[in-house]
Amino acid sequence: MNLRPVFTIVAALMLTSPALPLVIAAQGNPGAAPLKNPVAASAESTAAGKQIFARNCATCHGVNAEGGPGNDLIPAAPDLTDDQWDHGSTDGDIFNVIKNGVPPEFNMIPWKDKLMDTDVWNVVNYLKSIAKKK
Ligand code: HEC
Repeated sequence: MNLRPVFTIVAALMLTSPALPLVIAAQGNPGAAPLKNPVAASAESTAAGKQIFARNCATCHGVNAEGGPGNDLIPAAPDLTDDQWDHGSTDGDIFNVIKNGVPPEFNMIPWKDKLMDTDVWNVVNYLKSIAKKK
């Protein structure tokens, strides 16, 4: 009986197995991996984002995204044009907040069932385009 093929497989497994936990760690928690914005911040993208914002977000965050007063049910929605980002300032962080909302109260509701990913990125591009320069 020729054991060589078995030996080769075992050797290959031994070589790759140290990397396995790393692969699993990278895939097991997708929220931890930095998300890259796949949508270029073109004029079309920011214009589309502006429309989506006006339709869905302005009621709470204000027409200029400078924050809203809140009411009996919902606390004041933060200014999205300043450089204070309580839940992360990268494109990927902002994408996550819009898509999944802010737990545990979800005063900022998740939009994943209402907006396509591309439109969420368009809103991210819009918000970045109106960010106040320091
Ligand atoms: C019902 C009111 C409401 C609506 C509608 C709403 N938001 Fe929010 N949003 C909030 C509140 C309140 C918070 C603060 C949540 C917290 O920190 O617990 C928030 C937080 C955020 C944050 C995080 C800001 C930071 O400092 O990290 C982003 C980004 C955001 N909203 C974007 C949007 C976008 C884009 C839309 C529209 C698609 C939207 N919101 C619609 C109420 C709202």
